[in-house]
Amino acid sequence: MIFGFGRRRHVRIFPGMRTVKVPLGDRSYSIKIGNSILSRLGSECRRLKLGTRCAVITDRKVGPIYSKAAMSSLREAGFEPVEIRVPAGETAKSLDTIHSCYDKLARHRLERSSFIVALGGGVVGDMAGFLAASYLRGVGFVQVPTTLLAQVDSSVGGKVGVNLKAGKNLVGAFYQPRLVLCDLDTLKTLPKRELRAGLAEVIKYGIIDDATLFRRLERQLPAILKLNAKELAHVVARSCQIKAKVVEEDEREGGLRAILNYGHTIGHALEAISSYGKYLHGEAISIGQVAASKISRDQHGLGQAEVERIEALFTAAGLPTTVALSKKDTLKLLSAMKVDKKVIGGQVKFVLAKSIGQVAFGIDVTKATIKASLQ
Ligand code: NAD
Ligand code: GLY
Repeated sequence: MIFGFGRRRHVRIFPGMRTVKVPLGDRSYSIKIGNSILSRLGSECRRLKLGTRCAVITDRKVGPIYSKAAMSSLREAGFEPVEIRVPAGETAKSLDTIHSCYDKLARHRLERSSFIVALGGGVVGDMAGFLAASYLRGVGFVQVPTTLLAQVDSSVGGKVGVNLKAGKNLVGAFYQPRLVLCDLDTLKTLPKRELRAGLAEVIKYGIIDDATLFRRLERQLPAILKLNAKELAHVVARSCQIKAKVVEEDEREGGLRAILNYGHTIGHALEAISSYGKYLHGEAISIGQVAASKISRDQHGLGQAEVERIEALFTAAGLPTTVALSKKDTLKLLSAMKVDKKVIGGQVKFVLAKSIGQVAFGIDVTKATIKASLQ
């Protein structure tokens, strides 16, 4: 850390910090990735010329560990932050939580120029993002993701929202953040099971777009699981680059963005039929991606050797790759797939791989092929 004499009192140089741009015209933003950069939150927000008042939304697990650093950094940069803690876990992604947060924002007199900081995993990011999109018809929004899944996926791309009893993410918006700040050191306190779940999304980027990333994961997985700084920075930055490229091309999911859902059709259905209790999202989409790879082999030309490499990588990451379903549960799974937001005219559409690093979307798959992929 070096102190200099710039216009700002303390100019901290953070060696090795990477920046990935999300180019979306006047909604463009940067994703900053590095170690120990949470202390930089305030100065980064300052550059965005946001209003003085802000709210840091966090949950009851993340708040006690990281709020103090986030709040001090904001205060040091001249902001007036208020902290709002919500329960941890998927149940916090609800309209009830949103309602109670609206009241707190009003009490703190947040204005149009004010902003909301999401400090936490994908649950906090999705919920706080929807709060930012809707409060006063939209206030500034900054993402500080603290899970691997949130750093490589949910904090980037602007999908925000909450769940209804009828299903996940059924109320929401496309609302881009002004900044994403990924402090890789926050992953040190993340439970290992959550870290592994995040890796399922990283492996996905290799399958859908980048055979080199996939090969690197095959070699470096043990180092990544040990949070090796160089490897972690590389995979987070590369994942964000791939997501940024897809979102730039198709922000509102008219077509290409569907590829980000490789393995998600079966994965989401699996989460739904197990009442969102048994599998973490990353675990369910690990099973879903292996099934999608088998379907890709059966109807899209993916080689058996590549299916085996895919299965082996998920296994090496400590993720489940198969599921034992009764006949009744298989029927439930097939019917749950029809509730997926990606269904078109009642027909479930699949993303399938031609090879590792190359996929196509919008493909019809028969029930028999889906069933066979789960065996
Ligand atoms: P999460 O937010 O529930 O976090 C997982 C658990 O880890 C929670 O208990 C949390 O309190 C805890 N935690 C978070 N960071 C921690 C840290 N650094 N140290 C210790 N504990 C920590 O789960 P998630 O996997 O980050 O996100 C899942 C959510 O993301 C789902 O609701 C899913 O729908 C959503 N999602 C959204 C998008 C999108 O594009 N918006 C993409 C993928 C997933
Ligand atoms: N995680 C899927 C998307 O952002 O489109």
